[in-house]
Amino acid sequence: MKSLFCCPLCGAPLEREDSRWFCSNRHSFDRASAGYVHLLPANKKHSKDPGDDKAMVAARSAFLEKGYYQPLRDALCQAVAEYAVNFPDPVLLDSGCGEGYYTAGLFQALSDEELSPRIAGVDLSKAALRRAARRVPKAEFAVASVYHLPIPDRSLDILVNIFSPLASGEFARVLRPYGLFCYAVPSAKHLWEMKEVLYAQPYENPVKREDYLGFVWRNVKEIRYTVDLREHEDIMALFHMTPYAWKTSQAGIARLEALNQLRCQIGFDLHFYQKV
Ligand SMILES: C[S@@+](CC[C@H](N)C(=O)[O-])C[C@H]1O[C@@H](n2cnc3c(N)ncnc32)[C@H](O)[C@@H]1O
Ligand SMILES: [Zn+2]
Repeated sequence: MKSLFCCPLCGAPLEREDSRWFCSNRHSFDRASAGYVHLLPANKKHSKDPGDDKAMVAARSAFLEKGYYQPLRDALCQAVAEYAVNFPDPVLLDSGCGEGYYTAGLFQALSDEELSPRIAGVDLSKAALRRAARRVPKAEFAVASVYHLPIPDRSLDILVNIFSPLASGEFARVLRPYGLFCYAVPSAKHLWEMKEVLYAQPYENPVKREDYLGFVWRNVKEIRYTVDLREHEDIMALFHMTPYAWKTSQAGIARLEALNQLRCQIGFDLHFYQKV
């Protein structure tokens, strides 16, 4: 069966077999028993086990499973399904898909519209992809970098990027003209109350809308709500999903560690761009 991915070494199309994917130039890639394929060339790998580690992935999975970010997933799925009804078998990439929480929602939403979606996900983290492949067995998942996507030029209808590194040049290359790019960014007050605990002087997130070469900005969905975190482990899981996990003092972390509940604003801006 033909893959949505192409050979990371020569760019030729990849054929899928059960345990091995290969191109016409005899480059071959093993499929892990967990269901994903490794398409990251050794010279693009900057550490032994890049991407989010097992503990980060487990914490994020547990947090997302509790539905705290469900409003974002619903808004994303609704917008993508509305766009995709123009295509009988839309081709979608979840770039930096993590453990496939949004990928799974998208697959379900498009299938509910009686479409036959073809969905791929890439991430650097094997621990995340192991879960993603189990969650969405009908999608294809590859260990790959968003900065060097093993995806042919102009082959996608839709690309989503939820809190993963932005590679707008690559995204413009792989989307078809008029293709849809969905990009979630935090709002000014996202996690404000958590930042008040962590920092003496919290700052609002900058919210300047960016324009990217090759894209026209179309619209934004603003998603705002409050979550009641009533378990210590949920507070810490959320903290470890944010960039603050790397830039908070020990004293700030200790203040958060002492909490068993936290009421916190959540805010996402879900931007939609169209490939020109
Ligand atoms: C904050 S997580 C978001 C995951 C998922 N989209 C979600 O929201 O649940 C960021 C993800 O990007 C991945 N990542 C980081 N750098 C990457 C890169 N250069 N290429 C592909 N994935 C990358 C990490 O392994 C991690 O799974
Ligand atoms: Zn090849």
